[in-house]
Amino acid sequence: MAITTCIFDAYGTLFDVTAAARQAAQEPEFPHLIDHWAELANHWRLKQLQYTWLRAITDAHTDFWQVTQDGLDWAMEATGLSGDPQLRKRLLDLYWQLQAYEEVPQMLRALKTAGLQTAILSNGSPKMLEGAVNSAGVSGLLDDVLSVEAVGVFKPDAQVYDLVEERFNCQRDEVLFVSSNGWDAAGAAGYGFTTAWVNRSGEPMDRLPWTPHHILSDLSSIPTLLGT
Ligand code: LAC
Repeated sequence: MAITTCIFDAYGTLFDVTAAARQAAQEPEFPHLIDHWAELANHWRLKQLQYTWLRAITDAHTDFWQVTQDGLDWAMEATGLSGDPQLRKRLLDLYWQLQAYEEVPQMLRALKTAGLQTAILSNGSPKMLEGAVNSAGVSGLLDDVLSVEAVGVFKPDAQVYDLVEERFNCQRDEVLFVSSNGWDAAGAAGYGFTTAWVNRSGEPMDRLPWTPHHILSDLSSIPTLLGT
């Protein structure tokens, strides 16, 4: 079946989640962050994701903004930075203004020109996603922004992936699902989407029962992959 609909994960895939800590480290208010920002960003991301998985399997949903704050609090404590409320506030503010990876606008424009449907499907809450999409300037290149808040559970629960078929009235095998999160690409492959894993940093493949159909180093080759 030909791909008609291209669905993107948001955080880490379209938007660079390490940018908040990297940018704060360049600001004069936070000189102590220079040596710790990468470790902080890694802890923050990993804890945020772990909390989504744990909340999904224990039926204890809260929104992504809460797990983002909880993950940051853990990460700041782990890196000895928890006594800095000004830094906490700055990092959280920056999370609402993440920039898209540089190839994103051109890639989305090519897909729209080729007549494909495009959307985000994300753990993010609608307000967070609106902030990121607007600050990245890509709202006009997406047909929709779908949030897990519509079903009240995080990825990789199948109810989340169901949102795509409901919104776009398409079959699973007409969807290309693109994620930089190996577990998300694997989960979506298990669900029945064609998947592309964007592996920017050359990570090993996740040891899961499902594997992505395509492995890309960034997003620029997606139009070519779809033959547009
Ligand atoms: C998202 C997370 C998984 O945007 O990056 O859904």
